[in-house]
Amino acid sequence: MKILVLNGVNLDMLGKREAGIYGSESLEDLYKRIDSLELDAEIEYFQSNSEEGIIKKIHSHAQEGYYCGVFNFGAHTHTNVAIRDAILAVDFPFYEVHISNVYSREEFRHVSFFSDIAIGCIVGFGFDGYEFALQKILRSKNGS
Ligand code: DQA
Repeated sequence: MKILVLNGVNLDMLGKREAGIYGSESLEDLYKRIDSLELDAEIEYFQSNSEEGIIKKIHSHAQEGYYCGVFNFGAHTHTNVAIRDAILAVDFPFYEVHISNVYSREEFRHVSFFSDIAIGCIVGFGFDGYEFALQKILRSKNGS
């Protein structure tokens, strides 16, 4: 089972950007942490600051044979119709994850262009959110 863990704009800056909100760990640290779980799945990591890069990755859903996605689109969450349309175009099942609790932040972060088409949303649990989403995908696959 292949799962795509996709991080969007500015998430390559984790560990450097707004540490009070996002913590001091980097994206590499997140990948290492997920790898250390030794989940029964093939996890592919992808990060891009470009809308085109993200859309092309999502379009490759069928040919890459992804079972599910764990997506954090960063600021694109609150604005991006094109990425939403790409997901709908290829029917890519996914969980939406946010490191911070977007609902305790500025009002523009309370809107998501993705939550209504996600299987589920996990916000405010830091890196644990990615882990919870992955565990849930595996549990659902096993029928529990
Ligand atoms: C974020 C929340 C977004 O509002 C913000 O633009 C990000 C990160 C999060 O993971 O908490 O870049 O998606």
